[in-house]
Amino acid sequence: MTAENEPKTGTDVQPDLSERLLELAKRRGLFYVSSEIYGGLSGFYDYGTTGTLLKKNIEAAWRRHFLGLSDNFLEIEATNIMPKNVFVASGHLANFSDPLTKCRKCGLLYRADHVIGQALNRSVEGLKSEELTQLIKDNNVKCPKCGGSLSEVKVPNLMFPVHIGIEEGTEAYLRPETAQSAYVNFQRQFEIMRGKLPLGLAIVGKAFRNEISPRQLLIRQREFTQAELQIFFDPEKVNEHERWDEVKDYQLNLLLAGKNEVIKLSCEQANTQLELPKFYVYHMARVQQFFLNVLLFPEEEFRLRELPKEERAFYNKIHFDVEVYLKSFGEYKELGGVHYRSDHDLSGHQEISKKSQTIFYQGKRFIPHVLELSFGVDRMFFGAMNNFYRKTPDREWEWFAFPPQIAPFLFAVFPLINKDKIPETAAQIFRDLRLQFPGTYDESGSIGKRYARVDEIGVPYSITIDHDTLQNNTVTIRNRDTAKQVRVEVKELAETLGKLIKGAPF
Ligand code: GAP
Repeated sequence: MTAENEPKTGTDVQPDLSERLLELAKRRGLFYVSSEIYGGLSGFYDYGTTGTLLKKNIEAAWRRHFLGLSDNFLEIEATNIMPKNVFVASGHLANFSDPLTKCRKCGLLYRADHVIGQALNRSVEGLKSEELTQLIKDNNVKCPKCGGSLSEVKVPNLMFPVHIGIEEGTEAYLRPETAQSAYVNFQRQFEIMRGKLPLGLAIVGKAFRNEISPRQLLIRQREFTQAELQIFFDPEKVNEHERWDEVKDYQLNLLLAGKNEVIKLSCEQANTQLELPKFYVYHMARVQQFFLNVLLFPEEEFRLRELPKEERAFYNKIHFDVEVYLKSFGEYKELGGVHYRSDHDLSGHQEISKKSQTIFYQGKRFIPHVLELSFGVDRMFFGAMNNFYRKTPDREWEWFAFPPQIAPFLFAVFPLINKDKIPETAAQIFRDLRLQFPGTYDESGSIGKRYARVDEIGVPYSITIDHDTLQNNTVTIRNRDTAKQVRVEVKELAETLGKLIKGAPF
């Protein structure tokens, strides 16, 4: 682990955690390899019932936070398949590639910059293919698996081509990012949304990349979900934001390019000392707030890392990655990015489509600039599993401490025993509550086993129906994290759960 990758505080590394998470994920329906009965495909995963609920809740939390920033930020849904020219315009056809090298002995494929970086213990990202080939030769870098020699470095395109139509088909691609869908919709949406800037178009949808080496479970897949918000704005107003005062004293966790230490700078300092424009910094603050206040990642395990020029995506003018320390890998992982894409994409689309992408706004004609807030939903999902995984001495089973807002279910209902009208009463209570909150019902096995089952998927509150319920219309609610139990009247249950989901103390 390099100094750069070390967590700021003494967080432990848990190398076996990935295995534990995978075992729980499979057993409890969070996620597992896609098309498993046919042996699966590398880099493709399905979400089970529990995982789907958790993922949808993360997406909903993302929407609430980011679309809540402005009434002119709205979501669209667009197709996954797009014509070739979209990617000629965006530059993906020419530039969207990773350097590849192959072991001449065992045939394994590697991301050349990763395998060389590991061998030399330094980052070689951004070097040209000839430079990487030279490094392999000069340093005698070998295949980590079998020790065979490595081939010359090539740079294949990472998009999946699609042939539309049966015979004379149209060339198209599965989109490698949702962003392009927002750009090709911009002109129409600008009109529909009555010509106001800043304008935000959000897409939560699939992206596809033919990754050379899919790995680390949900972290590097070939089909994955992105949640991206493209904010179109007037470039002359890049150093202002109407809500700047709300964030100017907010402290950002920044790892600047070429540095090893995270520093804390207020937004005001980031603007004046680092010369980052206010429009950009304002949104960095909102991104950090999402990770710390909504997804509840620990502050000391979160950073916004500035990418040096050679590591930046080809379309970015300013680029900070959103990184979170994941215990199961013992290193920081990129979960998102704050990208100042300028007019790169709209200008490209104007040139190739021959359709003007300019707008007339406040007395002038121009192509808007784009600030992109981009996140991998699967990575946030896996980040949450890492962050909320618990194994404590007082409990025989592992569990997830997901916050109520993202937990797959808010509550579980258990009849303590299966007689004396207790199951019928429990089922009725469950049906009533489920009209308002997501819940699950379980009447099989000992109460301990039932607690274990719901703790393992992170259900925050378990409601038990017993003989007292029949006598005095009260039930117990158990808090997953503390195991504390309180007795509540049945008629107050819905109101109590409503308060708990909003963060009331228990
Ligand atoms: N529109 C900008 C864009 O796509 P990116 O950094 O290539 O930028 C954005 O991707 C986010 O999508 C990443 O921060 C990551 O969370 C997620 N992502 C990218 N490639 C992925 C993959 N192969 N598997 C899972 N998530 C991925």
